[in-house]
Amino acid sequence: MKNALYRITVLALVAAGPAITAGQALLPMPEKVVMTPGAFRLERPWRVEAETPSADSARSCCSFLERTDAPPTAATPRRLLLTDLPGAASPEAYRLRVTPDTIEISARTYVGFLQGSRTLRQLVAADSLPCCVVEDAPAFAWRGAMLDVSRHFFPLDFLKKQVDVMASYKLNRLHLHLTDAAGWRMEIKRYPELTRKAAWRAQASWKEWWNGDRHYVDEATPGAYGGYYTQDELRSLVDYARQRGITIVPEIEMPGHSEEVLAVYPELSCTHVPYEQADYCPGNDSTFRFLENVLDEVMAVFPSRDIHIGGDEAAKLSWPDCPLCRRRMVREGLAGVNGLQAYFVRRIGDYLAAHGRRLVGWDEIIADSLTRGATVMLWRDTAAVHEAIRHGYDVVLAPGRFCYLDAYQDAPPAEPEAIGGFRPLAHVYGYRPLEHLSAAERKRVRGVQGNLWTEYVATPDHAEHMLYPRLLALAEIAWRGAPATDYAAFRPRVLAHTQRLRAAGVNAFDLAREAGDRPETLKPVRHLALGAKVTYRYPFNETYPAAGDSALTDGRCGGWDYAAPSAWQGFISGKRFDVVVDLGRPMPVSRVVVNFYQASGVEIFYPARFAVSVSADGADYVTLTDCRQSVEKFSKPSVASMGWKGDARTVRYVRVQAEPGQLGGWIFADEVQVY
Ligand code: ACM
Ligand code: ZN
Repeated sequence: MKNALYRITVLALVAAGPAITAGQALLPMPEKVVMTPGAFRLERPWRVEAETPSADSARSCCSFLERTDAPPTAATPRRLLLTDLPGAASPEAYRLRVTPDTIEISARTYVGFLQGSRTLRQLVAADSLPCCVVEDAPAFAWRGAMLDVSRHFFPLDFLKKQVDVMASYKLNRLHLHLTDAAGWRMEIKRYPELTRKAAWRAQASWKEWWNGDRHYVDEATPGAYGGYYTQDELRSLVDYARQRGITIVPEIEMPGHSEEVLAVYPELSCTHVPYEQADYCPGNDSTFRFLENVLDEVMAVFPSRDIHIGGDEAAKLSWPDCPLCRRRMVREGLAGVNGLQAYFVRRIGDYLAAHGRRLVGWDEIIADSLTRGATVMLWRDTAAVHEAIRHGYDVVLAPGRFCYLDAYQDAPPAEPEAIGGFRPLAHVYGYRPLEHLSAAERKRVRGVQGNLWTEYVATPDHAEHMLYPRLLALAEIAWRGAPATDYAAFRPRVLAHTQRLRAAGVNAFDLAREAGDRPETLKPVRHLALGAKVTYRYPFNETYPAAGDSALTDGRCGGWDYAAPSAWQGFISGKRFDVVVDLGRPMPVSRVVVNFYQASGVEIFYPARFAVSVSADGADYVTLTDCRQSVEKFSKPSVASMGWKGDARTVRYVRVQAEPGQLGGWIFADEVQVY
């Protein structure tokens, strides 16, 4: 009943027009909100009544309601009542009741009061709070954001600022990717070389470093770029976050992504040669001694029960030929390098479990032998979630397709360089984490997380530009278990919050200026070849089929997302693009246009040769254009139209050919438009 009433209230407010009210602008949208008549004026004097022990510690989180700067004006004291919420299933559950003379927050725990106070803070409009009843609890216990502080280093104050923003949107895990090839970022007292050397490089830009020698320099080198957090700094961050209901989850990468460690401690790699390996040697017991010593210090700084050990993308190239690795495989009866990786992860998982901690790892850790109680953080194909759960693990969902915030959020030409792909806010908000999961599987989902990898993100301002507002979409999905409204209703809400964040000094992407996808994608193009049969001299690649045989004449043009199911058709090097469009009958043709996509980062390039020829009978062709161009690598994705235009000729068959140049790679084409 309450649910129905809430829906009617919200719908009525939405129908009222674009001006949004406090109740509507809540983000994440609480489970139940009923706006009632009247308002509570934020006046003094002020009286707090706490009827529950956990409320005592929560008083401070409501102090923003107490306008101590104003002289007392209220005839009777304004009352803040903090009461228990017996029977609440989640420690973060809360209930709010705002009447003209009392605000009541009910919760079971300190974090429950915190969450209630955050909803109140969002409801404050000028000097009053609208009267309402709110009942709310999170769908997921893990609502996270990951920041990669290895590729580029971000100062501690910036992390604390993100904790504040995250907290106001009820996110509760900040996962720090503390180690990777680009730099080790945590002080380890036992291994000072990690931060004396492996935390510094000559190039400030990751891209320059990665395309250069990928070496490290001493901390004292003039102009060295890098940095690390001391253990004291990290403890202060942990404490700062804890007060705000956020757990800092540290990630120490293993067995791969560890070039920086193996450059300064090469004896932990299979070859013992610096700058040669990315993976630790799991055949060597010294590797485990080193990692256990590191993890001892990590556990002493981070009280998080969950410790992330990476586990992704280990190439394992040196393992098959390493005598120690081979001996380990034989002695332990391990099936090849994958068995050896499973052994590695299980051994680390056992060590963490013996210290009362739980292992979290990227989805490559899924293996039969993994420690019970581990959590898989899913980043690749969402289908792997079934496999992880079948193996008995809990999961945190962070599939790249929705949760990686390093892709472009708007049309690339006006955006700073990003790693590739197109992931606008509307797409992120379309994520439905529980879709396709059975009731039993849903119980194993601990939560949802947004990840910001920072290969192309060098500054705090840029990081905020990438994080917000997309992280707010994920905050709501993580709190509610699914988008709470459709995107049309979400957009004005999130726009209001984006503007609030910008006014508060957070460099959120200016959603009001969003250009969106290529305008050509918004409506079908009409041309003579619409629906025409296409014959492929070389097949399109199965990974990028778009709409299959009809993709090039279906009237739909590809947008900025090269991998969208309905967009670009991909052709890989050697297999040229060579198609014949049959118009069905002879007709006058005066123009042929084909779009090509280029994204250097994923090896998609414009063609170096492009030709159009036509035929009346499908046997004899007349070449209308055959041109060559040099293909350059651009830093950003782009789209170009190539074609022919001339005097009309009556033809039935149009052949288009395109060939890659010296850069090789893919050709991505869409819609052979004939006019
Ligand atoms: C990952 O993106 N390699 C976890
Ligand atoms: Zn080895």
